[in-house]
Amino acid sequence: MPDAPSDTVLSAPPAPARAGGELFTEERSADVVAASFDNTPDPRLRQVLTSLVHHLHAFVKEVELTEEEWGVAIDFLTRTGQTCSDVRQEFILLSDVLGVSMLVETINHRTGGTSTESTVLGPFHMVESPERELGDNIALDGKGTPCLVSGQVTGPDGEPLAGASVDVWQTNEDGFYDVQQPGLQPPGNLRGLFSTDDEGRFWFRSVVPRYYPIPDDGPVGKLLAATGRHPNRPAHLHFIAAAPGYRPVTTHVFVADSPYLDSDAVFGVKESLVRDVPEVDDPARAAEVGLSNPFRTLTFDLTLLRANQAPAAQPADGAPGGSTS
Ligand code: BEZ
Ligand code: FE
Repeated sequence: MPDAPSDTVLSAPPAPARAGGELFTEERSADVVAASFDNTPDPRLRQVLTSLVHHLHAFVKEVELTEEEWGVAIDFLTRTGQTCSDVRQEFILLSDVLGVSMLVETINHRTGGTSTESTVLGPFHMVESPERELGDNIALDGKGTPCLVSGQVTGPDGEPLAGASVDVWQTNEDGFYDVQQPGLQPPGNLRGLFSTDDEGRFWFRSVVPRYYPIPDDGPVGKLLAATGRHPNRPAHLHFIAAAPGYRPVTTHVFVADSPYLDSDAVFGVKESLVRDVPEVDDPARAAEVGLSNPFRTLTFDLTLLRANQAPAAQPADGAPGGSTS
């Protein structure tokens, strides 16, 4: 005869009751699952998870997700994770093409129209950009349409920010960053870390950037293809401007006549960031700035908020539930 179950098994402590204790039903699914997080000690984690569960359940109910579709989604997310490596972040790319990166960026860097608007960082920034002197030519390979880039970094009252750092990076005229073409482009090509002069001004020589596709050989690219979306970003030059006592801004300046300005694959374009890049045909001026004639000019001034300045308020139609108009 088998032994009777031991006392230890019989006296196992009962599982702690879950907050709410209600059983799962289709109608009450979100509330039942959200209640399981009621005892989360961190109130922000509790708020985020509760809201996430409510939105996820509402989504599944709205589309009546099939088991096959659920499986496709799990497979897609699995492949997205498997595509990530030390040098590639496919989940951020997914966030980018869904507009989530831009939304998070925009919510966290509201300007109230008083400072330079931000946009996505993207995957091609170098943590340690090569330091350059004002006036340097960052087109190390000497290829492309020459362009003089200049601007001024100021605070909210127009005060010039001397010694502000201005970190820039861009594609070559074929639409590739240096890190995408090792061996073809010299390391540090079309990048530079500048420091502004006494009037907060910066200037350097470069070439006109070109539009380019985001990395589209992975699951995110397949998603774009399946939905008839192109992978391109309009031509732009990346900037991170920073000064002690002020809030740094991560942004781009977009070339006004570039294709894809109105259909950026990652929704990064803001009207305030678009600039004409006019041609200058003036041999004397070209010689003065050290470029071949004719050349193009790109002017981009940046305004930073003070570090202690309160963030701008949420726009009226940004409230949960959206616009009421
Ligand atoms: C970029 O501008 O470098 C970029 C931004 C988002 C995704 C891919 C590239
Ligand atoms: Fe870029």
